[in-house]
Amino acid sequence: PLLTPAELKALVRTIPDFPAEGIQFRDITTLIRHPRGMADSVRHLAAMAKSCGAQKIAGMEARGFIFGAAVAVELGIGFVPVRKPGKLPVETIGIDYALEYGTDRLEVDPSAIGDGENIVIVDDLIATGGTALAAAQLLRTAGAKVAHALFVIDLPDLGGADKLRGADVEVETLMEFE
Ligand code: PRP
Ligand code: HPA
Repeated sequence: PLLTPAELKALVRTIPDFPAEGIQFRDITTLIRHPRGMADSVRHLAAMAKSCGAQKIAGMEARGFIFGAAVAVELGIGFVPVRKPGKLPVETIGIDYALEYGTDRLEVDPSAIGDGENIVIVDDLIATGGTALAAAQLLRTAGAKVAHALFVIDLPDLGGADKLRGADVEVETLMEFE
């Protein structure tokens, strides 16, 4: 049987005061270096993506690539990388979004996305939801149907899942940290 979400949660490491004082950083390094931690996280996410009817998986650079690409392989479907700016060698579409301080930008190759295709977003963690909301909007602009986003970790106090649900993106996660 798969490791349960509670057993997977016990493999996540918490680093105090990173990247700034007062922040408890939930670090997946210890989860993914554990063979069943990595594989069973992916299997749980893949089962969730399958029940969402995923036709492709999209993952956000960089930690979203670790889980997203593995989920796509597990399901035998394609993977769309949502990239930081200036990385893709073709004409892209992009979206700027606000961070706590300043802004960031995500880009995709629109030719990777079929019209009306059901694309499920996968990332390691949802905090404020800014990254995932921007990715959902970008994929929708490219023609995708985006109705589901899956994460290993939710930080519910930061309100990201509620923000996504407000944009008609259903959120499912394997574990929460208060
Ligand atoms: C982290 C994480 C999510 C995002 C969550 O990525 O992997 O993508 O932040 O935060 P949010 O919900 O407040 O947007 P980060 O930007 O640190 O990049 P990385 O994957 O390259 O480490
Ligand atoms: N862990 C990893 N990434 C993050 C966190 C965290 O606690 N908060 C925002 N991004």
